Amino acid sequence: MKLLIINGPNLNRLGERDPAIYGTMTLAELEQRIGARAAELGAETSYFQSNHEGVLVDWLQANGPSATGIVINPAALTTYGLSLRDCLLDMGVPTVEVHLSHIHAREPWRRESVIAPVCVAQVTGMGWRGYLAAVDYLVDITNKEGAA
Ligand code: DQA
Repeated sequence: MKLLIINGPNLNRLGERDPAIYGTMTLAELEQRIGARAAELGAETSYFQSNHEGVLVDWLQANGPSATGIVINPAALTTYGLSLRDCLLDMGVPTVEVHLSHIHAREPWRRESVIAPVCVAQVTGMGWRGYLAAVDYLVDITNKEGAA
């Protein structure tokens, strides 16, 4: 089982970026927690962050085909990242969209997601715990499908 953990623009600044909204955990610490949970569940993880949509698409095209699940925080690409959406659709891998903050309780434009319709779920407002919930879910549905 191989999960891809992908973070979009500005999430490299986690820990410093508006901690009241995004928390104080850095991206490295977040990835460490995700890795620990995934390891407990017997899943491998690969991590990628970029501030550039095309770079995210290139990485996904290279790594998506061998993955069993994708956890993605598309950040500001959520509202207009159509090439990212098309790429996720093309990969055909169960994907969970995660947002640290509760996007439905913020500015109206943040609620629009072109990514969510190509995902199996959206997790929003649970902070760093949302990534762990996404990992739990993807491992669980992968195991169940494998057993069916
Ligand atoms: C975010 C929410 C987005 O609206 C914002 O552009 C981000 C982070 C979140 O994790 O809460 O960069 O995806």
